[in-house]
Amino acid sequence: MTAVANAAAVMTFPSRQHTDCDETEYKIIGDSSKVLQMLDQIDIVGPADSTVLILGESGTGKELVARRIHQMSRRRNEPFVEVNCAAIPLGLLESELFGHERGAFTGAVVQRIGRFELATQGTLFLDEIGDIPLELQPKLLRALQEHEFERLGGTRTIKVDVRLVAATNRDLEQMMENREFRSDLYYRLNVFPIRIPPLRERPGDIPLLARYFIQKHGRQMNKKIESIPAAAMRKLSSWHWPGNIRELENFIERSVILTHGTALQAPIAELGNSGRNTPVSVRYEAYRDEIVRRLRDASGRVGGPDGAAARMGIKRTTLISRMSGWASTGALKYRDPLSSRPYRITIESKIAKPRHDRRRF
Ligand SMILES: Nc1ncnc2c1ncn2[C@@H]1O[C@H](COP(=O)(O)OP(=O)(O)OP(=O)(O)O)[C@@H](O)[C@H]1O
Ligand SMILES: [Mg+2]
Repeated sequence: MTAVANAAAVMTFPSRQHTDCDETEYKIIGDSSKVLQMLDQIDIVGPADSTVLILGESGTGKELVARRIHQMSRRRNEPFVEVNCAAIPLGLLESELFGHERGAFTGAVVQRIGRFELATQGTLFLDEIGDIPLELQPKLLRALQEHEFERLGGTRTIKVDVRLVAATNRDLEQMMENREFRSDLYYRLNVFPIRIPPLRERPGDIPLLARYFIQKHGRQMNKKIESIPAAAMRKLSSWHWPGNIRELENFIERSVILTHGTALQAPIAELGNSGRNTPVSVRYEAYRDEIVRRLRDASGRVGGPDGAAARMGIKRTTLISRMSGWASTGALKYRDPLSSRPYRITIESKIAKPRHDRRRF
């Protein structure tokens, strides 16, 4: 057993001190060199008012970093306005961002203020910026460069003072090469990129994060958990966490719910191929979505250093065998569950004949 002596010890994290930001809010846990480097970057750019581009896989903490940057800026008492570009249906995104005048389109019965205007004096967080459609990119570029735009159906030019923080889990450079993302917008956004490393590249942070989440959820559930069994900690540290910190936090929350007594009772059998508590169909769907996302980011490449398999931390042949139940040679048609937008990914590897075997997930 890795006994954690008392609750105070659980909370003793050797994380950095930040002076001009509330430590209890938007706390970024980790003391690996990669995280410390990232914290240094946040310290520098936070108060600087420049545009920031946050890059990282799903669940690595992009939104947390964006909120922290806002907290560290002179705009901290002004609004932090978030727009998830992937979650808003294509036709509505322009009006969501820039607003519209009454009668601008069928159904526009009242005037609407867009998120850019709502964020005046504050920070606009454009999440999933890689999903912003090409036709909207020039208008966004102008708003960033000139700080001005017109509402949809309007003629009056509106001036705004907004700081932009953008985030994506997609490879914008690759998208630029594929002509899916404008290079002028990319260079305007890429003023100060912050890369958040996936959790599997900093396993040393896992014990700190696990203790932090045990504390957090233990407090919420009124449970005093003081130790993590060594076997559970070994498993937590060796798992590759494809869903990154969000997956770890959810797992710890579930563990805290299951715990009676002061030692964490973690359902470690769920990590790996033998998850018992989650229905097979749910695990299958989640894993398939993850594969599709990585394939999309890798522009259909399965193998190679930048391919989907490497991005998931598994062998190329393993990924191909996992896809054999539903993908076929050549192409994969996929509908994004959030935006309902259809995608077609051309797969660069030969996938075996479908076996329809869901039990492997
Ligand atoms: N370093 C960290 N320390 C503490 N908590 C963290 C850290 N990184 C992420 N979290 C927590 O993990 C969860 C996921 O983080 P967040 O929503 O910021 O990720 P994301 O990259 O925006 O994910 P997605 O791509 O799925 O939108 C949040 O509850 C966040 O508070
Ligand atoms: Mg997010």
